[in-house]
Amino acid sequence: MVDLARIKQIPYIKEIIKGDITKLSTITQLQNSLRRNGSEEKEMVVLADCSPNLTGAWITDRAKQIWLAEVALGISNFFLAEKFLTKVFQGEFFQELLKKIKISYKNVKSHKPKTSRKGSAEIYIVATERKNKEVQRYNKQFLLLDE
Ligand SMILES: C[S@@+](CC[C@H](N)C(=O)[O-])C[C@H]1O[C@@H](n2cnc3c(N)ncnc32)[C@H](O)[C@@H]1O
Repeated sequence: MVDLARIKQIPYIKEIIKGDITKLSTITQLQNSLRRNGSEEKEMVVLADCSPNLTGAWITDRAKQIWLAEVALGISNFFLAEKFLTKVFQGEFFQELLKKIKISYKNVKSHKPKTSRKGSAEIYIVATERKNKEVQRYNKQFLLLDE
């Protein structure tokens, strides 16, 4: 698990990294953590519940939040995660993000859980069935990630 904030230990979470998902050094830390815990070779699910500090300037907040969801999609693509789930704020950037997710996943659905406040713009996207996994695995061997 990665978060900008320091998070207390959570049951069943093997390692919590305090870091910024937009930084390459954090992705390297995540990769090392997955290796240490023997998780890198397992089928992976990326769950992203990122939100920036809200300023109240709605367009800026939405743009930042969608950007974080896009970064999470990049991480999911890097690790060839089989499933990807992200929270997003609906608005002008939402359809673009959906299109990008559909490049990597066959099955993409959006869902507003009952527990989510009715007036809030948040919605969850659930993407399953990664496309072209073997081609991507082949391409990935040429990608070196380091500090
Ligand atoms: C809505 S909270 C969700 C936290 C957690 N899922 C929970 O239920 O307690 C959004 C979280 O996104 C984190 N966040 C925002 N920007 C981030 C970034 N660039 N890298 C990592 N975490 C980030 C914040 O620190 C915050 O804890």
